[in-house]
Amino acid sequence: MFADLAVPVVVAPMAGGPSTPALVAGAIEAGGSGFLAGAYLTPDALRTQIEATRALTAGPFGVNLFTPGAESTADLTDYRSRVAAEADRLGIAAGTPNWDDDHYAAKLDVVLDARVPVVSFTFGLPRPDDVTRLHAAGVLVVVTVTTPTEARAATAAGADALCVQGAAAGAHRGTFTNDPAFPGGAPLYDLLPALRLIGAETGLPLIATGGLVHGADVAAVVAAGAVAAQLGTAFLRCPEAGTQPAHRAALAAADRETTLTRAFSGRPARGLVNRFITDHGPAAPAAYPQIHHLTRPVRAAAAQAGDPEAMALWAGQGYPLATDGPVAEVIATLATQAAAATARLASRFSPH
Ligand SMILES: Cc1cc2nc3c(=O)[nH]c(=O)nc-3n(C[C@H](O)[C@H](O)[C@H](O)COP(=O)(O)O)c2cc1C
Repeated sequence: MFADLAVPVVVAPMAGGPSTPALVAGAIEAGGSGFLAGAYLTPDALRTQIEATRALTAGPFGVNLFTPGAESTADLTDYRSRVAAEADRLGIAAGTPNWDDDHYAAKLDVVLDARVPVVSFTFGLPRPDDVTRLHAAGVLVVVTVTTPTEARAATAAGADALCVQGAAAGAHRGTFTNDPAFPGGAPLYDLLPALRLIGAETGLPLIATGGLVHGADVAAVVAAGAVAAQLGTAFLRCPEAGTQPAHRAALAAADRETTLTRAFSGRPARGLVNRFITDHGPAAPAAYPQIHHLTRPVRAAAAQAGDPEAMALWAGQGYPLATDGPVAEVIATLATQAAAATARLASRFSPH
């Protein structure tokens, strides 16, 4: 499905609002592809999004799910009081830091039932039974990996393709582990070394993701062996995306650095630096999804109030170059830029 796209560009799954049926369908109609974000949705809401996407396009699209991890035993007492103070400031109550599996099994049933042709997994491997069921139904299994070690495990688990995520990626790192010893949850690989090392070990198709915002970046990862490039931040400001207005404005201002932080969810994620990250990031425990649930009302209230200093402004490092055009226009521009980059390369490297 990815190797024969007219434009080898995939709209990344973007949980928490930005992913919409219109964004995914728009990408497909423009010659690319896309994933709906299953995370944080109820199974019913996911089914509704799949149906809504199918009403807009006859083309194939994927669904992404977060694989549940083990419950952390980290002490949350200090962080609970920090977030309670933030909630007080906004006149609301903080969330309850419970562990849950995000309705993983029920959502897997939804995608199987709806015969979605591709499912990608993030934060770890699907269970062997899940892979067996998906394969029996003819569903392509994609696993997000960030290191050669994860790629080896995903290959052994029966993945049909790998989504290789580099360090510059916006929002959550797809690491299998959430090791407090690592600011990124696991060793942090830039995209090109990750593609090169993983490509040296596996013949699986690789989808490259992380920090790509220009057609020349797409051409670069295809030159490096990827079948397609998965872009998230490049589409965050599209009118079809469900990105919050204050998030869009902060991206457009392009005056903040990005950083990795556990401040909002307890898992490392890349976002624009703001007060919440600066004040609380260093104290945030490696406890996902407890911290996600704890901070959710604060993030929602800040977004509603248009306050960029207490919400998660997810962004990949290339964000200043992203635009606000419709998804079809962004994909057409990427295709034109990639063709120009390819022509430049051909003239640079052709034998004289
Ligand atoms: C707002 C936002 C939400 C994201 N949500 C998900 C998600 O639900 N599942 C997932 O696998 N990746 C998610 N990602 C990461 C993307 O899949 C991808 O790795 C990343 O966007 C690539 O970097 P870029 O943003 O620089 O293009 C998200 C990215 C963003 C920006």
